Amino acid sequence: MAQAKIIENETFHRSLEAPWARTFMALMRPSVVEELVDETAFPFSQSLPGFIREHWQSIQDKTLIDPFRLGWLIDELVRVQDVQGDLVECGSFKGGSGLLMARALKTLGIDKQVHLFDSFEGLPEPDATHDKGYKKGVFKSEYDELVRTVEEQGLQDIITVHRGWFNDTVGPFLSSYTGEISLLHIDCDLYNSTNDCFPLFYPLVAEGGAIVFDDFNDGGRGEKTAILEYLAGQSPILHVGPAPQTCMIKGESLHEQVHVVEDAGFSYSLDRLLEHSTYLNWLNDATGTHYEDELAPFLPG
Ligand SMILES: C[S@@+](CC[C@H](N)C(=O)[O-])C[C@H]1O[C@@H](n2cnc3c(N)ncnc32)[C@H](O)[C@@H]1O
Repeated sequence: MAQAKIIENETFHRSLEAPWARTFMALMRPSVVEELVDETAFPFSQSLPGFIREHWQSIQDKTLIDPFRLGWLIDELVRVQDVQGDLVECGSFKGGSGLLMARALKTLGIDKQVHLFDSFEGLPEPDATHDKGYKKGVFKSEYDELVRTVEEQGLQDIITVHRGWFNDTVGPFLSSYTGEISLLHIDCDLYNSTNDCFPLFYPLVAEGGAIVFDDFNDGGRGEKTAILEYLAGQSPILHVGPAPQTCMIKGESLHEQVHVVEDAGFSYSLDRLLEHSTYLNWLNDATGTHYEDELAPFLPG
């Protein structure tokens, strides 16, 4: 039987992916990001304004994620604070986003664990058909260094670091794990890597729990393809975030969403993005991108 299409409106997906292509050179430059973090007009996290700025110094050399996306991740953590279950991250690199999530739990007095999974060997070989723009071995980090940082930052009671390829670590972890997941952070860039973790963890995400996809609209299409293939037929609502991030809430229904683009059985909600005026204004100032105008033609009239 022919597989159903997961992307029908190619132009819409190109528009979703355009902001990252335009900004990633800037957002990967420490001096640009530092300036951004210093700008007090940006709260980054809507629910914990100032949190990213306050903790930036301790994670800035340990993360590849810009403050807009980190702010969104923390907003999801706050949103699911009353949902049962731990936090799981697939793709931790030097630990930046994982350390930040653990610090947010500590700040808010939330009793949850953070499980970080990484090869510490960088990316595996990208898939020739599904991945664009990535190279084997990039984002290599040191397991011992991360474990040391976790201890130095006093987070060893919250964070567990799982070292190895997802193929070797996720199955054995799940065979003895009896909990649920309230926040799943998928940040492993590639098609096969996403397939090696997301389908295994997704069933454990509690109803109302959040899944944040860091690389969904990066234009590489690997993470996006694996996610859409797995979720096909489940009618999920995918919330477009600061490029290239996207997230979903398990079991969420469509009735409260206003700005929704339907494509290939998936609902892409732009509501949260359109409310994120500081990001949209920054994008406009930095790149001349009027994201809301570019996406408006895809919304039903
Ligand atoms: C973009 S980095 C993660 C960034 C991190 N979250 C941060 O705060 O900067 C992607 C990570 O995924 C890991 N990774 C990718 N595929 C993997 C796999 N199949 N098994 C284990 N780790 C993998 C890489 O080693 C790399 O550290």
